[in-house]
Amino acid sequence: MNRKVTVVGSGHVGATVARSLADKELADVVLLDILEGVPQGKGLDLLEACPIEGSDARVIGTNDYAATANSDIVVITAGLARKPGMSRDDLLMKNYEIVKSVTEQVVKYSPKCIILVVSNPLDAMCQVVYRLSKFPRERVIGMAGVLDSARMRAFIAQELDVSVENTHAFVLGGHGDTMVPLARYSTVAGIPITELLSKDKIDAIVKRTAGGGAEIVKLLGTGSAYYAPGSATVEMAEAILKDKKKILPCSVFLQGEYGIRDLFVGVPVKLGAKGLEQIIEIKLSADEQAALQKSANAVKELVEIIKV
Ligand code: 2OP
Repeated sequence: MNRKVTVVGSGHVGATVARSLADKELADVVLLDILEGVPQGKGLDLLEACPIEGSDARVIGTNDYAATANSDIVVITAGLARKPGMSRDDLLMKNYEIVKSVTEQVVKYSPKCIILVVSNPLDAMCQVVYRLSKFPRERVIGMAGVLDSARMRAFIAQELDVSVENTHAFVLGGHGDTMVPLARYSTVAGIPITELLSKDKIDAIVKRTAGGGAEIVKLLGTGSAYYAPGSATVEMAEAILKDKKKILPCSVFLQGEYGIRDLFVGVPVKLGAKGLEQIIEIKLSADEQAALQKSANAVKELVEIIKV
């Protein structure tokens, strides 16, 4: 294939992303980890699945960044996942060190790539990658809103007993407890859910969406979600690789949009071949703007601790 995507981190999220990229025949895939044998084993296993899936993607696993050279996209999933009772923010210092060293290698071998950040705490890790890579903001994008919106869509579809394909949801803000699920812009077949569900039901969906990651961490007992995070990441990669100009909620470096400056926060953006191609500014009510600002402040607190 003439496109190449590297996935850094061969844990559950990384391997799920690699699998979906290969199954959809979106690109050749390099799965990289510092653990010896694990990326090689998973990479080979994925390659052996390709004949059954009808995919000619070439998949390899490696510990050597040289094999990632000239990737079109690099997905960073490396880092620790939270354990029950932990917030994403508790991972800050450990994952900062990991993401920092990953970024240095990624930039060295793929100076023109688009980086999709998945490691937590998401928005702060995006800021680390952005500052250290010195890439333009168009080429550093965080995966969070697509996942959070997918969770909200699943809950809306369940509540109304409708196809998930009819649902659309918008979740803004940082990927943390202060995220902002926007009911007004969440629809079923174009109808706002505020017309279809009671306030109590909407409040319950909003609350469950904001706690969606923690709900799974608690159930799993060890580790965090990976199927939905994997699907969300691949939706973003596909939009870029196919230059789809798809509007998705992603964490991007805001420079005054939504009244927020010099900070990664989740907002609706257009993804295409150049990466972030446009930030879509929608009109927020005073309450929504205040909630977004609160969420941005929570991201800022983390960024100030690591001084990036
Ligand atoms: C989640 O929300 C892992 O942050 C990710 O599940």
